[in-house]
Amino acid sequence: VVLVVDFGAQYAQLIARRVREARVYSEIVPSTMPVAEMLAKNPRAIILSGGPSSVYAEGAPTLDRALFEAGVPVFGMCYGFQLMATTLGGTVDDNGAREYGRTALSVSKSGSTLFEGTPGEQSVWMSHGDACSAAPEGFTVTASTDVVPVAAFENDEKKLYGVQYHPEVMHSTYGQQVLEHFLYRGAGIEPKWTTTNVVEEQIALIREQVGTKRAICGLSGGVDSAVAAALVQKAIGSQLTCVYVDHGLMRKGETEQVEKDFVAATGVKLRVVDAEKRFLDALAGVSDPEQKRKIIGREFIRVFEQAQAEIVAEAAGGEDVAFLVQGTLYPDVVESGGGTGTANIKSHHNVGGLPEDIEFKLVEPLRQLFKDEVRMVGQELGLPEEIVQRQPFPGPGLGIRIVGEVTKERLDLLREADAIAREELTAAGLDRDIWQCPVVLLADVRSVGVQGDGRTYGHPIVLRPVSSEDAMTADWSRLPYETLAKISTRITNEVADVNRVVLDVTSKPPGTIEWE
Ligand code: XMP
Repeated sequence: VVLVVDFGAQYAQLIARRVREARVYSEIVPSTMPVAEMLAKNPRAIILSGGPSSVYAEGAPTLDRALFEAGVPVFGMCYGFQLMATTLGGTVDDNGAREYGRTALSVSKSGSTLFEGTPGEQSVWMSHGDACSAAPEGFTVTASTDVVPVAAFENDEKKLYGVQYHPEVMHSTYGQQVLEHFLYRGAGIEPKWTTTNVVEEQIALIREQVGTKRAICGLSGGVDSAVAAALVQKAIGSQLTCVYVDHGLMRKGETEQVEKDFVAATGVKLRVVDAEKRFLDALAGVSDPEQKRKIIGREFIRVFEQAQAEIVAEAAGGEDVAFLVQGTLYPDVVESGGGTGTANIKSHHNVGGLPEDIEFKLVEPLRQLFKDEVRMVGQELGLPEEIVQRQPFPGPGLGIRIVGEVTKERLDLLREADAIAREELTAAGLDRDIWQCPVVLLADVRSVGVQGDGRTYGHPIVLRPVSSEDAMTADWSRLPYETLAKISTRITNEVADVNRVVLDVTSKPPGTIEWE
């Protein structure tokens, strides 16, 4: 394993992903973890991430010198670089040399381990106030910029390396290459990690954990729960039962996709609960977004618990059903501070989230994986492309894409409009370019239009295509006008009561991706 020591900010996750892209397994640990504990994990290499502090700020995270003396190769980036410099006797000061954003880097020693085979001048992404003015003893300075004399250094003998910039961001042109040089050449690691290893390892682990007992899995139609279920199914076969709650807020064809395609690909035992009426009754008369979310979440848990209880009751020995499968991903684990001690950034409440008095033990086979890796695992398990490449869709479904009260008629109308938008985006080959494209019905708004020879008084549909890496921030997608035109024409022609299509051109922040 390669450990990525997290000094705050959001860099550590990106670094861990880049290491895995280099086919080396990585894990994130908090900078507060004692060095002895880090070393006990037997890391092949350690990477120190960037962070928001100045090394001289009061309470800034520090690092025990022992880390650099254990014979484990270390690569410091940005804050990690400065910490390495000061800990080992170099000089970092605030000489007014601030650099933010794209910066030209001059590589002064082309024979270096990190920069071998990369150009003497390269574009890198900087973000720092303090700067290193003298490298520690025994280190060679390998790069500089106009304002920073020491922008990279290395001590090849001790296997210690550092760069002032962020090689993990895509704006650092040779960043991935430099990282790979550290891993392969500096640390001597062979790139062998693949998702095939994960599948085999997880299947063995699940079998060991579950034994002869039974497990239940809630399927939402999303990628994560589908891949988790397929993996568990492969491990324990008919000991698994999946429950899919159809709350009537799904998009067109979604329930059928789970009922047919997913079952066909996995052979899973599936129980579909038709709860449309129950959800719509509970939502009647409600327009407030938060209230809608609460109602949907509450009803979902009730229906799911009831299905669980039925499955337990039907099982010969009820206590047999002891496990609940969850599609928890690595970012969820890191962000909720699970096991790593990092700050709680965002607790995402999923519909289907666990009631507090849960009596099941959890099976979470995707806990180590990033989203793109989950997709690869899904592919390996033979899941259909439509499931594996599915864009994110919120648990409360179309219920939070109707601004106003949720009714069956409005849902049907939105389902049509959404299906048209998805069809045209797919036809234009744009699915991979956008993160997701919520289609929103402004049910409480009406505007005047003219269709045929008559006046209409209909509702607008909003298109909200966004690009994003992690949904925490997003930008609106610059879709081709022809595609927008086609979607607009088809929706206004084919969907009754819609006489206007508008495009949302707001980034996140300030606007969230969903409208509610
Ligand atoms: P926002 O609207 O907060 O959405 O910018 C960020 C991402 O999360 C999805 N989303 C949800 N997913 N349950 C979910 O499983 C929810 O309650 C929920 N609310 C928003 C949204 O589609 C986007 O991908």
